[in-house]
Amino acid sequence: MKNFTKPAAILLGVFALAQGAQAQFQGNAEAGAEKTAVCSACHGQDGNSGVPTYPKLAGLGEQYLYKQLGEIKSGERVVPEMTGMLAGLSDQDLQDIAAYYADQEMQLSGAQEAEVQLNSGAKANSLELGRSIYRFGNPETGVPACSGCHSPTGRGNAPAGYARVGGQFADYVAKQLRDFRAGNRTNDKQQIMRSVAEHMSEAEILGVANYIAGLHAGEAGDRNMASE
Ligand code: HEC
Ligand code: HEC
Repeated sequence: MKNFTKPAAILLGVFALAQGAQAQFQGNAEAGAEKTAVCSACHGQDGNSGVPTYPKLAGLGEQYLYKQLGEIKSGERVVPEMTGMLAGLSDQDLQDIAAYYADQEMQLSGAQEAEVQLNSGAKANSLELGRSIYRFGNPETGVPACSGCHSPTGRGNAPAGYARVGGQFADYVAKQLRDFRAGNRTNDKQQIMRSVAEHMSEAEILGVANYIAGLHAGEAGDRNMASE
């Protein structure tokens, strides 16, 4: 663990552990670091990948990471690029790897000034559209606000399993939304994200992904975010 500058955060973190929300996790970040050599080629040594199709893992929640690793390993979430890579890893290995990446600090991607084309053919400001979707959703088509689950800063909600999204690559975020919409990614419990993405337009996906890339989600990992 590193970068614990706020005593309050430590106290809250201990409190969260005492409550048992994360007590099942026995991940050892130092041991995890030793097990990520093969991952670095795509995800970067500290989980800050340089390629927008490879998601940043740095600072994602430990619980979220562990869930994804288990599901990628079992094939419930299909990641062809990672075929067979987790096969030889034990449950403890996955917990250690999750702890390692959760402890790293994400380098925020940043949003871009851009225009998107609406279904009507008109152009709209990508960030304005994205902010509006993120905060308020689209009541006309039944798209819910993202902030309710992923938090206004994009930190997510670790105990609830709502992923941190703030600072992630826009391209990766947009791909996930398209995959949920098309039913290509199906590891969301109760189809939460599939029903969110179902009614999203391409312009809304591009706009909200751009907005998310610029969100400052704050300090790394769910270990520091018990106060959120
Ligand atoms: C050849 C490139 C490659 C390598 C090597 C690789 N990955 Fe991945 N990984 C990907 C891609 C691509 C995705 C995203 C797939 C998608 O679009 O859904 C991904 C997704 C993930 C995710 C899900 C992230 C999220 O935000 O949901 C995790 C966790 C992950 N990888 C961990 C690992 C670990 C741990 C290793 C090493 C054991 C590893 N990866 C090796 C390409 C790679
Ligand atoms: C009701 C709660 C809820 C709402 C509302 C919601 N999400 Fe999610 N989201 C989730 C959960 C839960 C997951 C994790 C799914 C899993 O376990 O794989 C998730 C995952 C994601 C991911 C994948 C993250 C990754 O690293 O692969 C993205 C991107 C995302 N959400 C974007 C959005 C956007 C954009 C909106 C608003 C249009 C939104 N979400 C609204 C609950 C929600």
